[in-house]
Amino acid sequence: MSMDNCSRRIILSALLVIMLAIGDSCARELRGMPLNLVEDVPNDLQEHHNHDSRRIHNKYEHPHDDALQKNAHDHSQMDHMEAADNIFFTLSDLKIGKTIPIYFSHKDPANSPHLLSREEANSIPFSFAQLPYLLEFFSFSEESPQAKAMEYTLRTCEAKPLRGETKVCATSLESMLDFARATFGQDTGLKVLSTNHPTKFTTGINNYTISEDPKEILSQKKIGCHVMPYPYVVYYCHSQESGNRLFEIPLRGENGEEVQAAGICHMDTSQWRPDSKAFRVMKIKPGTAPVCHFFPTDNLVWVPLTA
Ligand SMILES: *[C@@H]1O[C@H](CO)[C@@H](O)[C@H](O)[C@H]1NC(C)=O
Repeated sequence: MSMDNCSRRIILSALLVIMLAIGDSCARELRGMPLNLVEDVPNDLQEHHNHDSRRIHNKYEHPHDDALQKNAHDHSQMDHMEAADNIFFTLSDLKIGKTIPIYFSHKDPANSPHLLSREEANSIPFSFAQLPYLLEFFSFSEESPQAKAMEYTLRTCEAKPLRGETKVCATSLESMLDFARATFGQDTGLKVLSTNHPTKFTTGINNYTISEDPKEILSQKKIGCHVMPYPYVVYYCHSQESGNRLFEIPLRGENGEEVQAAGICHMDTSQWRPDSKAFRVMKIKPGTAPVCHFFPTDNLVWVPLTA
């Protein structure tokens, strides 16, 4: 219990430190910066893509391939793609003692995009119509993987939400909080969950055993925020009223590392694309069983403080 609160405090302090640290950084520094593409196209996004964006999604299903190949010294792309499948679990797995092979992707913070203040973010256009200008601004050529990733992100951000879904692409922590307040109400205290993984221990797939009873966070509303591939930090945040069960899952790795994982079960998958990765990996058909997955370490889940 105290561990949970402690981790949360650490996350919130870390966010604050980051906010302060970037306060006087200059957007111009971003030009020409290596674009650290997301390792996993956010799982929810894959499923939630509506018809407008399906074409784009299929075309850029792995916008990070080229970036990966560049630093593919330690693992091949194939290994990575297989590894990234290891994020799923089933509701019946959620028992003390259950061992699950899981891949928690790691990004080198030194090589990751910056988080901008709202002022800085607002000084840069964020729209698909402005893509040519943006490519020039960031010094990316039209055919570069970075350009494709930016196109993917801008089009995903501009796609219509699903029925019953609200979403925003937040280009700063301030706008992420605005969305959270609009969702939960101005006066509702908020807490944020994420997967805490001691990155120094492991990479790749590892066996983790559930070490304590998973705790369900009972909140009708939740906001999931995923980092999108972009030259600075963009969170794709979305909220759906129902149909999801959120869990905090204490895990222990084989070498004793403790991970406080956040995981979600999507109870109704009948609207998902039939070719979604989740169905392939879990060997089920749309709508026949819940799909549960662990959150990557850079995702944030907002819920009311009272949940
Ligand atoms: C996890 O455990 C299974 C079963 O004992 C074993 O076959 C597999 O190699 C282990 N995986 C890793 C990454 O250690």
